[in-house]
Amino acid sequence: VQTIGVLTSGGDAPGMNAAIRAVVRQGLARGKKVKGIKRGYAGLLQGEIIDMEAKGVSDTIQRGGTILQTARCSEFRTPEGQALGAEVCRKHGIDGIIVIGGDGSFKGAQKLAALGVNTVAIPGTIDLDIACTEYTIGFDTAVNTAMDAIDKVRDTSTSHERCSIIEVMGRGAGYIALWCGIANGAEDILLPEKYDYDEQKLVNNIIANRKRGKKHHIIINAEGIGHSASMAKRIEAATGLETRATILGHMQRGGSPTCKDRVYASTMGAYAVDLLCEGKSNRVVGYRHGDFVDFDIDEALAMQKQLPEYQFQVCRNLSV
Ligand code: F6P
Repeated sequence: VQTIGVLTSGGDAPGMNAAIRAVVRQGLARGKKVKGIKRGYAGLLQGEIIDMEAKGVSDTIQRGGTILQTARCSEFRTPEGQALGAEVCRKHGIDGIIVIGGDGSFKGAQKLAALGVNTVAIPGTIDLDIACTEYTIGFDTAVNTAMDAIDKVRDTSTSHERCSIIEVMGRGAGYIALWCGIANGAEDILLPEKYDYDEQKLVNNIIANRKRGKKHHIIINAEGIGHSASMAKRIEAATGLETRATILGHMQRGGSPTCKDRVYASTMGAYAVDLLCEGKSNRVVGYRHGDFVDFDIDEALAMQKQLPEYQFQVCRNLSV
């Protein structure tokens, strides 16, 4: 490849800027031109493309969000949109493209590869719900943000001897909820992959814990289960204990990336450039068993991921 395009797509995630910076600087160091595509695939279709220079990405590694902006683009799911995207790449001389986003964004990269643009995808999502990798950009920061917030809610919950339901993000995946469940010592975690919707069990657990002298009861509710506010009302009615719901929401997507997110995102950005320089296409970068690796996008999208059962049990066993 001669000219590498880079875009961020789908929900933003802390560390995306570190990945963009790495793509730009590794690309330039390898003698390539690098172009930034604004607002994900939506910006690609509009031709919102800028030249990237090494200096232009200084002072970005520590920033949350994405300097290229991001979008969810329904037009790019159509064959017409994809053909236009490939055409715009050709018009701008972009013969290699690096897509930073979730698996929805990988499907777009797969289509561009089929249309002759070399593509490499980098997993960027706070949800950690990408099967081919044990790491996704932004999860570490998001889970630390959620953990800090839950500690704060716990302080006031204990003072008032309340039950607190705290809703974390993750879409259909319970990774943020599971990690916070362990890190915050939550009494209950409700995960989309596991929850049986038996609220009576929850109520019994709250009452039993209160009898054993616990001053708070923290329930971490993954957003895939949802309805924290109405659940709080029902639990208060059933237990007689004051219950409050807190929805952490988009604060989990912002903030300065952790060291891990900066280092892994930088490594993945550089790795993606190296793959393009080796003439590879339709690849996704991953992290597995201590190494940065890459997979064919078709194979990566066909993989399945299971929530770690052992850690789920640990979380339950430790919440006595
Ligand atoms: O995929 C990241 C994520 O933050 C999910 O956890 C959440 O379900 C979703 O995006 C929220 O999307 P939006 O920002 O479009 O409301």
